[in-house]
Amino acid sequence: MKYTRTLLLAALLVSLAACTQPKPSTVGSDAGIEKRIEQLLSKMTLSEKIGQMNQVSVGGEVSNYAEAMRNGQIGSILNEVDPVKINEFQRICVEESRLGIPLLVGRDVIHGFHTVFPIPLGLAATFDPALVEQGARIAAVEATGQGVRWTFSPMLDIARDPRWGRMAEGSGEDVWLDARMAEAMVRGYQGTDPDGSSMAACIKHFVGYGAAEGGRDYNSTFLTERQLRNVYLPPFEAAVKAGAMTLMTSFNDNDGVPSTGNTFILKDILRDEWGFDGLVVTDWNSMGEMISHGFGVDRKDVACKAVNAGVDMDMMTFGFISHLEEMVASGCVKESVIDNAVRNILRIKMLLGLFENPYVDVAAGQAVQYAENHLDAARRSAEESVILLKNDGILPLDAAHVGSILVTGPMADAPHDQLGTWAFDGEKSHTVTPLMALRERFPGKVNYVPYGYSRERRTRFDDIVSAARRADVVLVFLGEEAILSGEAHCLADLNLIGTQSELLVALKAAGKPVVATVMAGRPLTIERDLPNCRAMLYAFHPGTMGGPALVNLLFGDVNPSGKTPVTFLRTVGQVPMYYSHTMTGRPYKGETLLNDIALEAGQTSLGNTSYYLDYGARPLFPFGYGLSYTTFDYSDIALDKTVYPADGMITVSFKLANTGAFDGTEVAQIYVRDLVGSVTRPVKELKHFERVALKAGEQRTVQVQIPVSELAFCGLDGAWKVEPGDFQLWVSGDSDSGQPVSFKVQ
Ligand code: BGC
Repeated sequence: MKYTRTLLLAALLVSLAACTQPKPSTVGSDAGIEKRIEQLLSKMTLSEKIGQMNQVSVGGEVSNYAEAMRNGQIGSILNEVDPVKINEFQRICVEESRLGIPLLVGRDVIHGFHTVFPIPLGLAATFDPALVEQGARIAAVEATGQGVRWTFSPMLDIARDPRWGRMAEGSGEDVWLDARMAEAMVRGYQGTDPDGSSMAACIKHFVGYGAAEGGRDYNSTFLTERQLRNVYLPPFEAAVKAGAMTLMTSFNDNDGVPSTGNTFILKDILRDEWGFDGLVVTDWNSMGEMISHGFGVDRKDVACKAVNAGVDMDMMTFGFISHLEEMVASGCVKESVIDNAVRNILRIKMLLGLFENPYVDVAAGQAVQYAENHLDAARRSAEESVILLKNDGILPLDAAHVGSILVTGPMADAPHDQLGTWAFDGEKSHTVTPLMALRERFPGKVNYVPYGYSRERRTRFDDIVSAARRADVVLVFLGEEAILSGEAHCLADLNLIGTQSELLVALKAAGKPVVATVMAGRPLTIERDLPNCRAMLYAFHPGTMGGPALVNLLFGDVNPSGKTPVTFLRTVGQVPMYYSHTMTGRPYKGETLLNDIALEAGQTSLGNTSYYLDYGARPLFPFGYGLSYTTFDYSDIALDKTVYPADGMITVSFKLANTGAFDGTEVAQIYVRDLVGSVTRPVKELKHFERVALKAGEQRTVQVQIPVSELAFCGLDGAWKVEPGDFQLWVSGDSDSGQPVSFKVQ
């Protein structure tokens, strides 16, 4: 039974003017829980209430925190994963504090707990929400097995600037893909029926954080309300609808207002429009950082602004615990505001069943870590996440006739780096690297010559090149270390770091077939490297089982099916470039580029359109791109009607044929363009995707339904609606191919 908020009337009023419909609450509480919350709340002192709103990162001895816990001064902890210590913390809270309220134990379980899955950008490349949901479920089973009941994931920040290191942590540039991944992860973490293996999801960072100016982390954003509503908010709204229990505010200030003090996003949109009745936590000290932003004079001031804006829990500023009591006394904060925050916190603790079962079974929890089926799912996720960017026919390699293999490159045997960013609990001792997997599969045939950025791994090119001459095939694993992406790890140069590109040139010159695999946290600018290898696989840091997955792909046991979740640029100067842009008044028409211009011939006009003289207007690879060992052909693309009502359903059918010699899976993508709007509209927007598995030579007619309501957007009048008019629709294997069919909405 769904909990219904008294705010429904207010939400209804707000929605009349705003872009979304009024929503019922989505967390899933019920009347019984609400009664229990009120009963408990009525017994709490102000100090105990404020204690619930305080989250502390713990380290060292349990005894350091025992007194604060006994006094009800800590509502949540993060960064403790020892189940014995967690049980002890819970025992102190439950048995020794006055009201016995259990702790909410949080952790950044971002792409797996012990068993590490590909980084979220890689998970997005699978275009496989069901598999991603399974991975999140496994992460929850392992993490809850050690007492962690709250993960600070999924990160839903749309990212269109690969310089930003945190692009690794999200689903990339697209709104629709991000929203589907968001729902999948929320369902996976929380489970369908909350039980002991349910881990509350935390959707973050609310909101706009991925649009950091210059791709420099924590930087300001300048997003209009329309951009927020059309691009940055929809994945959050989808996750709220899917029942996300908690949400984290972001570090950035948007148009001058830091998120942690932003009433418009935290109250008007999140609570009133969407009916969210989960818990809102700050990011780490993001309340305190409002002082650096120049948005508050001191900790008291920012705490007041944050709580009044709608923040329920303070992560590591200690602003609430230090100042809220005096602020209530002075009238700057109403006790009813505190009561609401505590309700939101207690609701999550009750929904997770923490009052009934605060403790974890340590032995049972140990037994599920790195379970066989977990490793298997991690391998499958890695296999589906890898994108084949180039293949002149050398792949797949023939396992039956393989001769000697030279393995080299900094990522060939980098068990830590392969796990990627935010893999706190993944142990490198459990990682299987490509080198390990190759040695196991081809004993005696693998010659490994290490090459790396670090001094102890560095070998001179000459040694590698002479080994290449002796080999039948060269497998080179390039990329970037885990530490080069993730929080605060932004880059201004997106070429392969160090001398890796030169290594590739030298290997090519050795005359043997070179197959390159890149492992990275972002789409690097690899244009200059492509001509120097005969095939290239791109793996966003693929996790614990990345090695076996890559070997299965290289040797054709698995056919690549990953697609780019983000545009690959030719050069960093093209940032930002994404497929779903609006159209200029002077679109690029394929004009001459600088290097082709005969300047001496006196050419003066370059066409006066929107492009770079030196790099044109096209990326290296568009969004949604990825090759296979087979080929796919789309035909007979048809719609069931030519005109649809705004509340109608579009049925799209198309024939997909596997025209090559290998079984394979194609991610069929459906894009739509709204030709004329009250405001300019993107040239294409993804509205559906479907993974279709076909045997060699097989063909199938696929039917897909798209509600016309999916075409709604926030237009000139600020209303969220479908505007009647002409549309085009594409069914294709990437965002840059296919022929459109037309339809109208009346
Ligand atoms: C990050 C969050 C993370 C939090 C807790 C912050 O620095 O921005 O994404 O969840 O730390 O570790």
